[in-house]
Amino acid sequence: MTIAVCPGSFDPITLGHLDVVRRGVRLFDEVVVGVARNASKSALLSVEDRVGLARSAVAEIPGVRVEVVPGLLVDFCQEIGATALLKGLRGGADYDAELPMALMNRHLTGIETVFVPADRGVAHIASSLVKDVARHGGRVEDLVPPGVAEVVRARLRAHAEGARG
Ligand code: PNS
Repeated sequence: MTIAVCPGSFDPITLGHLDVVRRGVRLFDEVVVGVARNASKSALLSVEDRVGLARSAVAEIPGVRVEVVPGLLVDFCQEIGATALLKGLRGGADYDAELPMALMNRHLTGIETVFVPADRGVAHIASSLVKDVARHGGRVEDLVPPGVAEVVRARLRAHAEGARG
């Protein structure tokens, strides 16, 4: 039984993430979407939102489940018996960001990272851009799984109201 963890912030999950997960289940018996904390980003959505939206998005894909990564990613992988990490690469900037993490994770426990090239049809999608487009009133429904856009807009509204006091 081969298990891969597809880790990320998923703030929010996008059609790009979903494409990587779908392709991952052809390579591994099980893909675990690992919702983790990126220390260099502050998330718009709560962990509960991110997990809930990811669970709905993968509900119909056999061999996929969603879990929270509570601490170090490699510790989580060991706990669940995962032998690989799965990540998508949209371009050189992704590679530059992902390579140090892949090397560090391999240094820590020997776990390998498998990169899949992003499908051209979704290579322009990034969670940060989804939030930026939505923040400025743009349409994001065709960038994210069903139900995600509404939650993103609601959380952006709450943030804006909070900022105004
Ligand atoms: O979607 P992101 O923000 O690019 O994903 C980065 C993430 C969350 C996978 C990374 O920050 C991570 O692995 N965080 C968990 C803590 C950890 O293991 N840090 C060391 C990474 S080498």
